[in-house]
Amino acid sequence: MDRGSNRTVLLALLSVLLISGCQGGNILGVFTSLSPSHLIIHMSMAKVLAENGHNVTVITALKPVVNHKDITVVQVPMSEEDHKHMSATIAQFASQDNSNMVITMFRSMGQMKFMMDKMRDIMKDQRVKDLYENKDNKFDLVMLGYFLNTYQLGIAHKLKAPVVVAASMPPNEIFNTVVGNPSVASFVPAMNMAVERGQIMTFVQRVQNFLTNIAMKVFFAILENYNANSYKEVYGDDPTMPPFEEICKNVSLAFFSSHALSEGPIRPNVPAVIEVGGIQIKDKPNPLPKQLAEFLSNADNSAILLSLGSNVKSSHLKSDTNNKIFHVLSKLKQRIIWKWEDLDNTPGKSDNILYSKWLPQDDILAHPNITLFITHAGKGGITEAQYHGKPMLALPIFGDQPSNALRMVKDGFGLSLSLLTLEEQPFKESLTELLENPQYTHKVKTFSALYRDRPMSARESVLYWSEYVMRHHGAPHLQSPLMQMNFIASNNLDVFALLVTVLIVFIYISKFVLTVVIKKLKGKPKNTDKLKKH
Ligand SMILES: *[C@@H]1O[C@H](CO)[C@@H](O)[C@H](O)[C@H]1NC(C)=O
Ligand SMILES: *[C@@H]1O[C@H](CO)[C@@H](O)[C@H](O)[C@H]1NC(C)=O
Ligand SMILES: *[C@@H]1O[C@H](CO)[C@@H](O)[C@H](O)[C@H]1NC(C)=O
Repeated sequence: MDRGSNRTVLLALLSVLLISGCQGGNILGVFTSLSPSHLIIHMSMAKVLAENGHNVTVITALKPVVNHKDITVVQVPMSEEDHKHMSATIAQFASQDNSNMVITMFRSMGQMKFMMDKMRDIMKDQRVKDLYENKDNKFDLVMLGYFLNTYQLGIAHKLKAPVVVAASMPPNEIFNTVVGNPSVASFVPAMNMAVERGQIMTFVQRVQNFLTNIAMKVFFAILENYNANSYKEVYGDDPTMPPFEEICKNVSLAFFSSHALSEGPIRPNVPAVIEVGGIQIKDKPNPLPKQLAEFLSNADNSAILLSLGSNVKSSHLKSDTNNKIFHVLSKLKQRIIWKWEDLDNTPGKSDNILYSKWLPQDDILAHPNITLFITHAGKGGITEAQYHGKPMLALPIFGDQPSNALRMVKDGFGLSLSLLTLEEQPFKESLTELLENPQYTHKVKTFSALYRDRPMSARESVLYWSEYVMRHHGAPHLQSPLMQMNFIASNNLDVFALLVTVLIVFIYISKFVLTVVIKKLKGKPKNTDKLKKH
């Protein structure tokens, strides 16, 4: 190679570097949710951006499980005392009946406020303030992990950067407001309404749905009021900050962890709703740790994964319940991987059971020898099992889990039992049904094919739309008109009022004219008589 071509190569390399350097944006992820499963979703989005050459900084409370070497994590950890409080609350939830979503929602208000207080403290931390007080920092995009923290949108205003929202749930009454997505109670069932595919709600269900939507709106309004106070507390000292209501109207678009095309419900979404359900699932699973890989490759009669998620520890359950689960599982011919934290203190030893503290759930579910997933029915776990086409036995605990389980059963992907009242016999029968009747696997595999069939993968969507917002410095042109309308206008109540008034006036006038005409026709002589007498 001569010097000329050497130089060309160098120049080419340099321009590639320069171009990628220009394209790489500075992105701030604000992921303060105290729920590990939310953080997995949020970090999976940040990871896609980091993998594609963006400089990503994230603020978290928890230590992220999903991470990337180029992501700068600013962790503002909770105190030991707060961790204890959270754990105690979860244990309490695990011991009560949470099957009614609306009642559970209001009962969890105290816990919500506790979490909101902790999230607010993070925003007041100097490490977070430094990000906007240091004038050298320049961010092209803020991604806000959205869960009852609307006031945190204030940081995007501080940084003069456009903002997108990352929600770990499907669009619903609570999340719709962030991008002005319409709420349609007549045919879009709320989370807790399991309506079979292709069926419409009955009259009773519509009444129930309508009331649930109102309850969710009230719940949300109470927490938004709380958020308004947090906004004052965090940003109140800065007179240049716009009012809270204005801050709420500046979201460019929202990523939701759902895929309505396959999962339903069929509903209208505004263009600012970008569905990226399954974002946490790897296109190709990572190799399993040696111990797990060996355990599964020698599973002559297939294997089961049991995990009750990241919030609930096995110690939160009654030891009696754990023993019943152990008795049944230890007698199966299948091998079982059981997520269990305290390895010195297990419900019992059995050759077919492997306890493990931490599990790469997505990679395990991808393994061909796993034929059943026993789950607490968190949205993340259900999504992964659906993606990998594995039937489920749900043992829901709280939050959206009972509703997720209900839907999963309606979809025919498995069965659900109450963890609170779990007995050996029904547990064993459910397992036998799921392991021996192929219909569940068939249904969930059919769904899996539908779920994966998309014009753009979840990762591609996150990358494309995040870069879109950066390219255009925000997306006000995508904004739903509902963001600027009040309750009366958005429900056309003023139009109805006008029409009803016109109708009433018309009826009145018609009646008046009619009486006059009738009187004229029938009683003209009588009337004139009367008049003459006076
Ligand atoms: C990446 O972001 C951090 C802020 O967390 C900043 O300090 C750093 O300079 C940025 N790197 C580049 C190459 O822009
Ligand atoms: C809304 O976002 C744009 C950037 O997309 C910014 O210029 C504007 O100041 C923001 N408005 C408010 C009220 O935050
Ligand atoms: C699944 O189990 C069978 C039977 O033990 C084994 O032959 C096979 O290699 C296993 N598959 C994988 C991918 O480990």
